[in-house]
Amino acid sequence: MSLPTKNSDTAHDRNIEQWKHCGDPGTPYLDSEMWASCESGSQVSALARSGEEARPYSFKAIPFQQTPTEPIQPNFNRIASPYRYLEYLTLGRILERCRDHFLPKLFDCQQALILGDGDGRFLAKLYTANPTLHATAVDISAAMLNLLRRRCEAAAFNAKILLLTCNSSALEHTPSSQTDLVVAHFFFDCLTQSDLDALIDRVAKHVRPNALWLISDFRIPGGPIRLPARLIIRALYLAFRILTGLRTTRLPDHATPLSRAGLIRIDHHHSMAGMLATELWQRPPAK
Ligand SMILES: C[S@@+](CC[C@H](N)C(=O)[O-])C[C@H]1O[C@@H](n2cnc3c(N)ncnc32)[C@H](O)[C@@H]1O
Repeated sequence: MSLPTKNSDTAHDRNIEQWKHCGDPGTPYLDSEMWASCESGSQVSALARSGEEARPYSFKAIPFQQTPTEPIQPNFNRIASPYRYLEYLTLGRILERCRDHFLPKLFDCQQALILGDGDGRFLAKLYTANPTLHATAVDISAAMLNLLRRRCEAAAFNAKILLLTCNSSALEHTPSSQTDLVVAHFFFDCLTQSDLDALIDRVAKHVRPNALWLISDFRIPGGPIRLPARLIIRALYLAFRILTGLRTTRLPDHATPLSRAGLIRIDHHHSMAGMLATELWQRPPAK
């Protein structure tokens, strides 16, 4: 059966996916008044023109079903190799110092989940200091993971056996229940608030209750630096959008979902006039 049409209106304009035929086949003709009453789910009677004959015709508009689409993921593969040089050129070593600030507090951890670590500069340092660490690195970029593996294996021979890399979205990863460290450096800012809420909720349920969480990210401080900070962060998002297709445009709030999951911030350090924060979170042991 052909779809009823009128002027430039289309079935999709009206949020209608298909027209269920309820009468004789033919091409229904709608005058403008009838067309106006064709809301989703409505049943309309019209005249079907079949040859010379005009016959009563009735059909039903079935609501348009949005087919679920895969979320658009950013692609960091292209910038994986030059990534650290881009970072050093734009911000010098300040991000590196931010990532490494709490490194000495992680030397006793045994099972780490490293989310979006990029080229692995942080994890390689952690392996140098703690070569018996079991780590799972999750990243959607295969090129970043290759660099990460090479760096970690060069840093600690054991990494060949103790490091597991997962080329998938962190949003779908279920961590081991032995995990006692979760690391996310400049990764949460790639996520929307709802994705971050879901990720924190799921990871917090699976890892050990006393696990440490190390999180570094940009922040917008108060005071006179507020406006320049907003502009810098907007420019960084624009650059990542052009280079990787990243869709996120604003910094999500990780403190609320972490607190909701029962964690407390046990230490923090701000740098770059308050625009960078690195934080240690942990769930307090049961009393
Ligand atoms: C901005 S880079 C940060 C890299 C590194 N952590 C650092 O501090 O420089 C973000 C990293 O997260 C990865 N990434 C982005 N979205 C992801 C997702 N949904 N799941 C896993 N990795 C993701 C990217 O491929 C990239 O390696």
